[in-house]
Amino acid sequence: MAFAEIRMKHTWPLLICLLSHVTLAWGIARLADDVEQRSAFSVARTNSMEGGPKMVITFDKVYVNIGGDFDPKAGMFRCRIPGAYYFSFTVGKFPRRDLSVMLMKNRNEVQAIVYDENAGEERKVQSQSAMLQLDFGDTVWLRLHGDPRYAIYSNTGHYTTFNGYLIYPDTYSFQEPVVKETTNRNMNEAVDHEEHVQQDRDNPDARENTMKAQEEQEEQEEEEEQQQQQIEEEEEDPRSAFSVGRTQSIVGVDRGHVEHHPITFDSDFVNIGNDFNMSTGTFSCRLPGAYYFSFNAGKLPHKTLSIKLMKNHLEVQAMIYDDSDQEKALQSQSLMLQLQRGDTVWLYSHQREGFGAYSNHAKYITFTGFLVYPEAPKQKAQEQQSTKP
Ligand SMILES: *[C@@H]1O[C@H](CO)[C@@H](O)[C@H](O)[C@H]1NC(C)=O
Repeated sequence: MAFAEIRMKHTWPLLICLLSHVTLAWGIARLADDVEQRSAFSVARTNSMEGGPKMVITFDKVYVNIGGDFDPKAGMFRCRIPGAYYFSFTVGKFPRRDLSVMLMKNRNEVQAIVYDENAGEERKVQSQSAMLQLDFGDTVWLRLHGDPRYAIYSNTGHYTTFNGYLIYPDTYSFQEPVVKETTNRNMNEAVDHEEHVQQDRDNPDARENTMKAQEEQEEQEEEEEQQQQQIEEEEEDPRSAFSVGRTQSIVGVDRGHVEHHPITFDSDFVNIGNDFNMSTGTFSCRLPGAYYFSFNAGKLPHKTLSIKLMKNHLEVQAMIYDDSDQEKALQSQSLMLQLQRGDTVWLYSHQREGFGAYSNHAKYITFTGFLVYPEAPKQKAQEQQSTKP
């Protein structure tokens, strides 16, 4: 899409609350035992920058650069380990200048934007975040609008920061041991069977008893195998992550009765495990555990912004709200939830006249969630035990 076109569509600014990057960092803890599979960076900029021909935002303060995948002087993250990454950035707005910073993939693929067309005196920061699926060699960077009317503000207080880290590498070794185990067990069973047959020939009287015992044993084994299979199925893909966007605004209308339909989405950055259904707008928990969720939405001029994070039927978990006169703003919210298998999580925008949320092709309305810690296997087994009659 042409840059000018995107600019035109973003004729109002947004304000994103700061996400807790510390919370997000927990996600990488699972990978700590595999040094080869680590990639994380966190950088800051100590001075302002004006729009010009060189649009890549560079950084001069490096907090974290595990794997060395971020080049601060070039302002480029280059993917070394293919996988799903979480990126977030915060940029300061320069007084009396407009703000337009895009999260870019490769040369010209716009992923998300921070925009604030407000010539006012004030300084403030705005944030944005998304999960991206990257291949080897893909680059991710921040682009400041090339016009000198645009600028970002920073000083030694570090208004402007950029973070990213690997959540799930594409290749996971978990699947291989499962396959091997199964093969070995089948081979052992075959050996056992040969031995039984030999014994039976030697002692015909004991044969019937042996067969009965064997049948019982086989039944038991079958049952165990089924249970094992169930566990293996559950462990098939221990990953769950989604990041989705909506390219259209939502406008509430009075229908005489209040409806509670989830917000639906039309584009996905990632959907690992396919636990998020785009057409229903619902995340269904397949793997019990602790999940991190975050969501952003733009404010429609003259409308109240009210979006709730819902669990199951109508259990409100968290919300964003803005009923100010301000025409231009963006709101964000995030939290972690402990979920059981089958729990659903979704977003609800108040279905009433006067309410709404803004979005366009740059995806102001986004929704991200990923598994931080799966429930411990011991804990899971105990729960299964206690639910048995
Ligand atoms: C999403 O949910 C709808 C309604 O339950 C269902 O018909 C559809 O198959 C689901 N889509 C996916 C990709 O699972």
